[in-house]
Parts: sequence; C-alpha cells; structure tokens
Amino acid sequence: MQIHIQKAEKSRLEAFNFDNFSFGIETTDHILVAQYAQNQWAEAKIEPYREISLSPLAMCFHYGQTVFEGLKAYKQSAGIINIFRLDKHAERMNKSLRRMCMPEVPRELFIEGTKQLVNLERNWISDKEGYSLYLRPFMIATESRLGLVPSQEYLFMVVATPMASYYSKPLKVKVEREYVRAVEGGAGAAKNGGNYGAAFYPTIQANTQGYDQILWTDAQTHNYFEESGTMNLMFIVNGTLLTPPAGSTVLEGVTRDSVLQIAKHIGISVEERPISIAEIQNHFESGSKIEAFGVGTAAIIAPFSQIDINTKSYIPYFEADAQMFVLKKHLQNIRLGISQDIWGWNTLL
Ligand SMILES: Cc1ncc(COP(=O)(O)O)c(C=O)c1O
Repeated sequence: MQIHIQKAEKSRLEAFNFDNFSFGIETTDHILVAQYAQNQWAEAKIEPYREISLSPLAMCFHYGQTVFEGLKAYKQSAGIINIFRLDKHAERMNKSLRRMCMPEVPRELFIEGTKQLVNLERNWISDKEGYSLYLRPFMIATESRLGLVPSQEYLFMVVATPMASYYSKPLKVKVEREYVRAVEGGAGAAKNGGNYGAAFYPTIQANTQGYDQILWTDAQTHNYFEESGTMNLMFIVNGTLLTPPAGSTVLEGVTRDSVLQIAKHIGISVEERPISIAEIQNHFESGSKIEAFGVGTAAIIAPFSQIDINTKSYIPYFEADAQMFVLKKHLQNIRLGISQDIWGWNTLL
C-alpha cells in the first residue's frame, strides 16, 4: 500500500523527558492522515505532526460522528517493536464506524499506516518496565454543512504519545445506580466520542466523593454490572473468573478478550454472563475470596481495593499472589516476547 512519508526535519525526542511527563500531552514527531471524500479514500500520508484546520460547520462538532481506538506498541528485547493486537483494534474501529454511519477504514490502511508510523517513531518507545507508545487512531466527520445527515467527508488520523504505567495504586470504586453509560440498542458498544463525554459528569461526581472510578450498571434495573471507565470488569470468585457479556451496552475490550483466552488456556474457569450486584454482595458477605479488577489497554489490569455498593464498603483480595496478577504476567510475557505468541497477537517491527 502506498503511503507517502514526509519526515520531520528535527525530532522533538531529545527534549522529551521520559522520567517526567504526563500521558497524552506530547505527541511523537509524525501523524498519519487519510482523507475520505466522494466515496473514496485518498492516498494516506505520514507527515510531521501538525495541527489541523476545520470549518466551524464541520459535522464532527455538531453531530458527534467521531470514533477512536487506543492500542499500544511495546519495545521487546533487542529493540524489536511489538504492536499488540493491531488486527483486533482495526476490526473494532470498523465496528464502531458502522454504528456511527461512518465509512470503514480499509484494513490495509489501518494496519499498514499504523505500522509505518510506529516504525518511524520507534525511538519514542522506552524499554523501561511498564512503558509503551500509546497509539490513537481516530476518525472525524469533516464535511462543512449543518443538517442532520451523515457527513460525506472524513479524516482518519493516527497520533502517538508515550505512556508510562497508568494507575499506580489499586482503585476505590463505587457502583453507580443513578447515571448510566449505555442502554440496550444504544451506541455503548461503539468507541465513539459521545460515550465518553457523557461519562464525565457522573465520574467527576464520584471523584469528588473520593472514588477513583465508577462501576456502571445496566440502564433498566441498575442491578447488573456492566463495565468501568475505560475498562471491562472482571471478578474472580473462589477461583472462577466472571465477567459481564460484551453485548450492545458494553465495549468489547481487546484486553478482555486476551485475558479470557489466557485464563481458559491456563485452566481458570470462565463465565461470561450477567453478574448481579446482589450475587457479588452475597459472595462478599459469605466470606468468599473475591478479586475484582478492571481490564483495558491503558491500565492493563487495575485491581480494585474497595467497592462501595449503596452505603456498604467491600474489600476484594488484591495481595501479590492474587490470580489477576498471574493473568497480567502472562499477558505481559506475550507482549514482551518472553512467552510464545500462540494466538498471533503480536505485530513485530
Ligand atoms: C468503555 C471502555 N470499556 C472497555 C475498554 C477496554 O478496551 P480495550 O481492552 O480494548 O482497551 C475501553 C478502552 O478502550 C473503553 O473505553
């Protein structure tokens, strides 16, 4: 596939301090850009990172046709770069795009474009433990026009930003029973911008009450767990891994999929099924050993140290020998090329 590459004259890497940076503020030197108009994609370009200019009437500003992905590239030993589950993210991007009436990104554009961008930025990937390059492919509606119809023009871009470990401490979470993230038949299974904008208000309310995150519940009854922030939700109860199904209200996480496959492979029994709050509460109250954690690209596996359900607080198990850390280690070993990549998850550069 033809991708025109214009290299930056000077890298900003020298001025970047890997020991002191905030996630998501500084980008690498380049950006991938591809335009869609008149029912076709123009040739993709990798250019020096730059700002973009859009008409105030660009439809993304008004009707929310914006979709994004988030994945990571790691540095393995001997300087090999690994983009983790690139294919799966390409697939999910297109699933989200279909839901938002936006044209799909050709698989080759997503895959080759991301590979070539990462290859150019390989020096931005630190091999320090927990470090990676976070990749943000995204697409926005750019047609300059008011009117409630899908845009005819789009911009697909990929930007990259260095990342260290995401959450440094276990999370205190609250079961949310007032606000909802998604409803059956809505767009909760898509990674469109609006889902995240609408989550800010309840999340900030919870933050001001001292919580790190919310555990979303179903819109109809508020009695079943769904997911949490930018993570899918998992419990390990007396050795069995439980996770809510990834239906129309839950984003089908790539980390979720990886963790479930690893769990089955190492002999942990897995149940993907609706999990009621009452069930988990009963387990806590009967003294079962419960691990509770979020799984997602950014956080990988984030243990919960406290779950508040209505006015009661429950403390899951998160000591170093918890099974979630065994799963995390397996996942990391595959990413870092320490264990065999039996499922073909790694794209090596
Ligand atoms: C709402 C939501 N749920 C779950 C996830 C976890 O998905 P993944 O493992 O693909 O990062 C994310 C992150 O993309 C998310 O935004």
